Amino acid sequence: MQSSELMRASVKRLPVYQPGKPIELVARECGLDPREVVKLASNENPLGSSPRALEAARHALADTWLYPDNAGYFLTRALAARLGVADRQIVLAAGSNEIFYRLCDLFVEPGVEVVMGAHAFISYKIATLLHDGRPVETAMPDLVHDPAAMLAAVTDRTRLVFLPNPNNPTGTALGAGEVLEFARSLPDHVVFCYDEAYAEYQSRPADLRPLIAEGRKVVCTRTFSKIYGLAGLRIGYAYTTPDLADALNAVRPPFNTGSVAQAAALAALDDTAFVDQSRHCNMAGQLQIEKGLAALGVESVRSEANFTLVRLGSRSEEVARGLQAAGVIVRPVANYGLPDYLRVSVGTEAQNRRFLGALESVLQPSRA
Ligand SMILES: Cc1ncc(COP(=O)(O)O)c(C=O)c1O
Repeated sequence: MQSSELMRASVKRLPVYQPGKPIELVARECGLDPREVVKLASNENPLGSSPRALEAARHALADTWLYPDNAGYFLTRALAARLGVADRQIVLAAGSNEIFYRLCDLFVEPGVEVVMGAHAFISYKIATLLHDGRPVETAMPDLVHDPAAMLAAVTDRTRLVFLPNPNNPTGTALGAGEVLEFARSLPDHVVFCYDEAYAEYQSRPADLRPLIAEGRKVVCTRTFSKIYGLAGLRIGYAYTTPDLADALNAVRPPFNTGSVAQAAALAALDDTAFVDQSRHCNMAGQLQIEKGLAALGVESVRSEANFTLVRLGSRSEEVARGLQAAGVIVRPVANYGLPDYLRVSVGTEAQNRRFLGALESVLQPSRA
């Protein structure tokens, strides 16, 4: 008997999460030197990691024979102090992705509906289906979440609503006022997960702490994978009401965050110089890419995050292959219902130039 025959039906139907291709793999496939390959496919920080975080990580390596602090005391305390909430309101996780899965552990079972945008980050859908829940996907006119449509999709069976702001892969965001109004409109039987993976790149991110303080069922998630440059260490967190934090902590596996990750994250929080530098690099890179694309006559979607959606129509897959052959990895997003687009992470000035140059060469033959 095949082991797959023994598995739950929902597991066999799961959509596959398609990560950006690793540099080494593309180098092997295309016969390139890995040092020549530019990866703009996973919204990582092109400046690398916070130097202070790296130093703390190196230091923490000496104690890796010990289990980590299961409560992540120091990191939890620092996050709580920074956010002005109680320690009890913080939940640490192996990346913010883990929080989405834990929320589904808590609230999703057959018959339960989970509301999300049609082009929203795909983890919510996978985690919902894993628990035999029903993802209810609402239209996103102009690739922006539509709060009215999401509210209209809420029924008595809804238990969770996910809103990534800015969203991946569209990069689009709702204004702070719209988010607050939406969160306040949700009925009491619904838990609202507000995903802030890219909030540090925004000039005016929404602040849902007043709603949490009122006791509303709001779970905000953040990550160290993006602006802090610690994607490889897998660490993120949620802040929420004490009740929901207790429940999330009850369903997380023991020692879900490692000691090196906790130490690095703690140090990264204080590295404001690196965060500022990363934000500036991203702003300049967004402008550079926007201008470069406009010069090539290629449309892009205005993004508030560290990537941008590039519209290439029916040629998008072919263009992705051409870019890859030239050593530039970008992300096709057909699995998000966006077959006409490629998602390109913002790189350094040199990496963006490489992308724009390669794109020009790939597009050229049919233009001539
Ligand atoms: C919108 C959004 N949320 C959450 C995540 C998850 O990040 P992590 O699990 O690395 O914290 C990502 C990663 O790409 C994302 O794009």
